[in-house]
Amino acid sequence: MFRLKNVTRRFGKHAAVDAVNFDIPQGQMVGVIGRSGAGKSTLLRMINRLVDPSEGSIHFGDVEVSALSGAALRNWQRDCAMIFQQFNLVPRLDVLTNVLLGRLNHRSTVLSMLNMFTRDERIMAIAALERLGIEQTALQMAGTLSGGQQQRVAIARALMQEPKMVLADEPIASLDPLNAKIVMDALRDINEREGITVVTNLHTLDTARNYCERIIGMAAGKVVFDGSPRELDADAVRTIYGTDSDGNEIDETMTSTAIGTHAARQDNARKSASPTPLALAGI
Ligand SMILES: Nc1ncnc2c1ncn2[C@@H]1O[C@H](COP(=O)(O)OP(=O)(O)O)[C@@H](O)[C@H]1O
Ligand SMILES: [Mg+2]
Repeated sequence: MFRLKNVTRRFGKHAAVDAVNFDIPQGQMVGVIGRSGAGKSTLLRMINRLVDPSEGSIHFGDVEVSALSGAALRNWQRDCAMIFQQFNLVPRLDVLTNVLLGRLNHRSTVLSMLNMFTRDERIMAIAALERLGIEQTALQMAGTLSGGQQQRVAIARALMQEPKMVLADEPIASLDPLNAKIVMDALRDINEREGITVVTNLHTLDTARNYCERIIGMAAGKVVFDGSPRELDADAVRTIYGTDSDGNEIDETMTSTAIGTHAARQDNARKSASPTPLALAGI
């Protein structure tokens, strides 16, 4: 069980996240929605301890995450892998090495500095790439991949951390609908197969409805909705998104990416018959 108790984060006088409380049972897939500036990114970054809360506490089981430091903090950051809108790969390193970087917190600093990964780790990395359908890119420089491919590399890297939680901050905001679907399907697969908790910020309502069993709506730093997609009715949407700058109510289609399934099937069909990726990786 993961728990936020009265968590606030201020920047100056402004509370980006304001007295937030919620519990997440292990294995839930949660979407966090809200307007730009609602505090979604700050919330995720506090869970990962990239940002510290000003007040309140964060707990994972018996561990007070918000009190961790040193090695224990690094272990927590390994346990909750983060996926970003802009992928955050090392563009001039090859894909395989980028994925292997997910192992850094599992190993000694010296070995990491020497960039020496074990055969088992390399096999694990290839398996992660195969799972995401991009094993044929293993030796390409990460920066040469399309956005959708790069986000899949980032997910493979997250898998290498063997995380208990995956936090994704608008993982599909820079992607076309086809790649958005591939990436969301991958997150759902991780959630369902491994039972890993997924918390993802989403700027589109329909994606949250389609993929998440639970939706948390934020406005001005506060949780203003917490329920199932079925409970997210027009009133709730209005509470979360309010009205636009002209005073008109938000139309749900404005928050839609209309992820198509037809194009996704075509892409899967196009997946190349790859030249044995294990051989490519020198295994
Ligand atoms: N590092 C920061 N310094 C100052 N203000 C920040 C910082 N990060 C976020 N904020 C402010 O906190 C509020 C919430 O931001 P954010 O968490 O990025 O919202 P969202 O992800 O929902 O768009 C915004 O008003 C933003 O300007
Ligand atoms: Mg954000």
